[in-house]
Parts: sequence; C-alpha cells; structure tokens
Amino acid sequence: MTQLTLPLTLPIIPFEGIDGCGKTTVIKRLQDDSNNGLFKACFTREPGGSVVGEKIRSLLLQDLDTEDESPLTRLFLFMASRSSNIDKVAQRALQEGKIVISDRLDASTYAFQLWGGECRELEKFFYQSRNVILSGFPIQYIYLRITPEVAALRRAKRPESTQNFLDKLPIEFHQRVFEGYEEFFGRLQRQSTLVENPLHVVHVVDASVSEDEVYKQVKDIVLRAWGSQTP
Ligand code: TYD
Repeated sequence: MTQLTLPLTLPIIPFEGIDGCGKTTVIKRLQDDSNNGLFKACFTREPGGSVVGEKIRSLLLQDLDTEDESPLTRLFLFMASRSSNIDKVAQRALQEGKIVISDRLDASTYAFQLWGGECRELEKFFYQSRNVILSGFPIQYIYLRITPEVAALRRAKRPESTQNFLDKLPIEFHQRVFEGYEEFFGRLQRQSTLVENPLHVVHVVDASVSEDEVYKQVKDIVLRAWGSQTP
C-alpha cells in the first residue's frame, strides 16, 4: 500500500443513492464543469476505477459465474476493488491537488450487499474493513435521496435496451437498499455531530426535484470543497 501523506485537505466526494437517483446526470455535468476549468478533479467509479478495479467490475457486473458466488465472496470482491481504487487512483489524485469524485463508494456496499442482499450479520465486518480502507481520508458523501417509489417510476421510463438486471429485481429489493442508505447515512450524520471537525460528512440532497435544482446544490457543495464559492 502506498504511504499516505497526511493531512489530506481535499476530499473524496462519493455520489450515492438508489438506482434511478440521477447520479449519472449529475456526474456528467460535474465533468463538463471540471473540463471548463472550474475545479480540478479525478473522476472514478466503484466497482472499478483502477486497472484491477475495472477487472473486478467486469467480474461482478458482467460475468455470470460470479452471480452464483456467496454474498461473502461478492463482498470481498467489492472491497478488493475499493482498496485498489483508493490506493492506485484516489490517493494519488488527492496528493496531486485534485478532488476525487467517485460514482459510488462504501455506502453502496452497505446498502446493496448488506441490506439489499440481506446479509446484515456482516455489518461488524463491513465497518472494520471500512476503517482499514478509508480511515485517514476526508470524505464528503453526497446522498442523492429519492424514495424507491419515485425511483421505480423513473426506471420504468428508461428504454428497454438501457435497463440492467437491477430493473428486473422486485421493488422489495430496492426498498431494502433504500433503508440501508438511510441507516448508513443516519448513523454517519449522528456521528459527525459528535466531533468538531469530522473527517466523514454527509450532504443529503433531495433528488426528487428538477435536474437543475439538484445540480445547483451539488455544484455548490463541490465548489465549497474546492475552496471557492459559487457566484
Ligand atoms: P452501474 O452500472 O454503475 O450502476 P449505477 O449507474 O446504478 O451506479 O453499476 C454499479 C452496480 O454495482 C450498481 O448496481 C450497484 C452495485 N454496487 C454494489 O452492489 N455494491 C457496491 O459496493 C458498489 C460500489 C456497487
């Protein structure tokens, strides 16, 4: 593992939320703003990001063999991808003076594997591993919050060709994932009020409003993290 040079001042900004929350659109707009020189950022995603992470991504999301693997094996694969992404991509970018914008991070593992996949007995293990992989990194989560009902309506409008396996899972699965996010971020919010300069904070953004309104809030958070204010 690369030695971490502390303190890191810029944060990792993960975008999190249930399928259909609008993450992709928001991240695309941030990419445009970053390309236009508004802030320096490295864009990454999970699973994926690093060379090894991307290989794990195809194993997890495209290779049917992994569908049969146990929840524990799949959990390890998501975590291995994260460890590589943090080590090879995020840490380097932060040290080069870039914000790291990540399409998903560990809240997804908590919500999808532990709650969606009904493996809540792995919670203690999840938090221990999380501490190993992410401790020392400033993280400002952006939780794009929508209810499973609104998300289902949005997903139903997607063209058949762009629907993935998640769109075929029952609403109960998405409901559990939603509850997992609520639990993860609720706990993080409670913890962050207990210390003066929390390393990990969460910004909850109501993602049921218009795309422009959501983006305005997101951009404001990112620019504040970058150290400037929106005009
Ligand atoms: P992706 O095509 O990026 O979906 P989305 O646009 O909804 O983010 O695929 C990522 C999938 O991986 C998504 O279904 C959520 C899932 N996932 C987990 O189950 N656990 C995790 O830890 C992460 C990071 C993602």
